[in-house]
Amino acid sequence: MARKKQNQKQNQKQNATRTKLVNVARIGEVKPGQRKVVSVSGGEIALLNLDGEFYAISNRCPHADFALTYAPIYGDIIICPNHAWMFNVRTGDCMTKSSCAIRTYKVVVEGKNIKIEI
Ligand code: FES
Repeated sequence: MARKKQNQKQNQKQNATRTKLVNVARIGEVKPGQRKVVSVSGGEIALLNLDGEFYAISNRCPHADFALTYAPIYGDIIICPNHAWMFNVRTGDCMTKSSCAIRTYKVVVEGKNIKIEI
């Protein structure tokens, strides 16, 4: 529970401070079912296209910092290849350990550009 609260506090703190949009891809570059991992401000973010809707999550598993670059996705659930913890891509909620969550980012489509709010 502590880690989830910590992530929620981190998200609230980020929302309270200035945010900026970072251009990470062009429309058509990440097709339905595909993903693109980008480096933003020293961190890895996975941009995911789930049936035409874009989502962005940290590309590092909050359990033991494993890369999710090749993690399988079923519906809106991504499964970490290391210990099989499952996370909801839309909400960040961890299905395996409710006190945990993966960081999510707001995705904004402007014209032909896909941007992530950081
Ligand atoms: S590192 Fe991802 S589940 Fe353990």
